[in-house]
Amino acid sequence: TPQDAAAFIKSQVRTIPDWPMAGVQFRDITPLLQRPKTLRVLIDLFIERYVEAKLDYVAGLDARGFIIAPIVAYELNIGFIPIRKIGKLPYKTVSESYALEYGTATVEIHEDACGAGDRVVILDDLIATGGTMMAGKKLLERLGAVVVEGAAIIDLPDLGGSKLLRENGLPLFTVTEFG
Ligand code: PRP
Ligand code: ADE
Repeated sequence: TPQDAAAFIKSQVRTIPDWPMAGVQFRDITPLLQRPKTLRVLIDLFIERYVEAKLDYVAGLDARGFIIAPIVAYELNIGFIPIRKIGKLPYKTVSESYALEYGTATVEIHEDACGAGDRVVILDDLIATGGTMMAGKKLLERLGAVVVEGAAIIDLPDLGGSKLLRENGLPLFTVTEFG
């Protein structure tokens, strides 16, 4: 069942205490990618969720979203859109800056990455403060896309990002959460 799959996925996430800094419990998805069984169970959860959604694209967030999103796009037989950290995309871009704990970050999309009315899901590994996902939503909406949903493997609800995103009109699908 989907609940069994989600529990299995949660059990295979590796937690690294105090990385990259003291106090952070880093939720490492690489064990999910390492074994064919876990990779397939994970990808199939997203495929089941979106197979009937009439999507035009899956957008992925740099860098860990890039691991999962193209696999999902390939299986749905639709295109993949990269949303990149600033300075990496070669053509004309649209950009959004957002607040981090200290300072700001900026992400970009190619201005012709999709068109008005295109139906897009944004995929990433994890939602913490929600800033990255929110910036991705804004970029796609500036291109006229319909952002159907944000999706991630892991939600960290204590950081408030998933609540903020939902309050700002973005439905979310997350496989599992860590408190
Ligand atoms: C991490 C993670 C998400 C984002 C979540 O990426 O992969 O993209 O942070 O945090 P937020 O909800 O507070 O925005 P990071 O910026 O560490 O970059 P990386 O993918 O290059 O490791
Ligand atoms: N990105 C932001 N917070 C994170 C965490 N605790 N683990 C993995 N990636 C993250």
